[in-house]
Amino acid sequence: MQTMKVFVVFVAVFAIEQASAAVNTNELARALHNKLSSILEPELMMAPALPGSKVQPQPVTPKLDFLLVLDSSGSITAKYFEEAKDVCEILVDYIHGKSPIGKYGSRAGLIEYSTKSKTHVAFSFGDYNTVSTIKNRINQTEFDNGGATATGPALQLAKTELDAKSLPGNVRVVWVITDGKSNSGVKPKMPADDLRANGVMVCVVGVGNSVNDVELNQIGDNGCVFRADSFTQLKTAARMAYNLSRPRLNSGFFNNLSFKRV
Ligand SMILES: *[C@@H]1O[C@H](CO)[C@@H](O)[C@H](O)[C@H]1NC(C)=O
Ligand SMILES: *[C@@H]1O[C@H](CO)[C@@H](O)[C@H](O)[C@H]1NC(C)=O
Ligand SMILES: *[C@@H]1O[C@H](CO)[C@@H](O)[C@H](O)[C@H]1NC(C)=O
Repeated sequence: MQTMKVFVVFVAVFAIEQASAAVNTNELARALHNKLSSILEPELMMAPALPGSKVQPQPVTPKLDFLLVLDSSGSITAKYFEEAKDVCEILVDYIHGKSPIGKYGSRAGLIEYSTKSKTHVAFSFGDYNTVSTIKNRINQTEFDNGGATATGPALQLAKTELDAKSLPGNVRVVWVITDGKSNSGVKPKMPADDLRANGVMVCVVGVGNSVNDVELNQIGDNGCVFRADSFTQLKTAARMAYNLSRPRLNSGFFNNLSFKRV
C-alpha cells in the first residue's frame, strides 16, 4: 500500500513536470534563428545571359512575402498583445537584415484574428514599403480582444491574401502566433494543408500552456513549430535570434583582424 502511494505521488509530480515543461529561452532563440536564416539562405541562381558574357550561377537571397497571422483574442490581454506586436516587429527587422524590405524586395503583411467576424487583414503586401513604416503600422495595430480563436478562418484569409497579392518568385511564408487552440470555424488543419499544397511555408508559435500541441503540429510545417512559455519570453528569444543574425563587427573576431587600406 505504502509503495502504491509513493508511486502515485511520483506519477503525479512527473505529470505536472511534463505539463509545465519550461521552454529554454536560448534554445528557442537558436531554433528561431536557424529556421529564419535557412528560409533566407541565398540560393545559387542563373542570371539571364547577356550577349557575349559567360553566365555563372550567383548566390541570390530570396525575397519573402511574409504574412503574419496574429491571434488577437481576449485571452492574450492588452498588455501581452503589445509584446506580441513587438515580436512581429523584431521578425520584420530580422528579415530586413538579410533580405531588405522594399517595394521590390521582401514584403510583409498582417492578419489579425480572433472571432470569425473580427478576423481581418490589418495591412497587406505593398501597403507599406519600408521597414520603419511597417513597424509603425504594427505598433498601431489595436487589440481586437475577440471572444474566440478562429485560427482556421484566419488561415483561409491568409490564402486568399497570398493568392491575390504575392509576387511570383517571392518565397511565401505564413507566420502564426497564437496563445490558444482554435475554437471557431473550420479546423486549421485543412487550410494549413491547402497553403502547403500551394507552396506556402507555414510556421506557428504557440505561446503559454493553453495551446494544443497536436493542433500546432497540424498548422506548422514539419520543423516550423515553436513553443514559448510567455510573450515576454518569446520577445526576448526573438531579440536574441535577431542578435545572432547580425555580424558582430565590434567584438571578437573582427576586432582582431588588422585591415589594410587598399
Ligand atoms: C509604439 O508607439 C509608442 C507611441 O505611440 C511608443 O512609445 C513605443 O515605443 C512604440 N513601440 C515600438 C516597439 O515601436
Ligand atoms: C541584443 O544586442 C543588443 C546590442 O548588442 C543588446 O543591447 C541586447 O541586450 C541584446 N538582446 C538580447 C535579448 O540578447
Ligand atoms: C581576440 O584577441 C584577443 C587578444 O589577443 C584574444 O584574447 C581573443 O580570444 C581574440 N578573440 C577572437 C574571437 O579571436
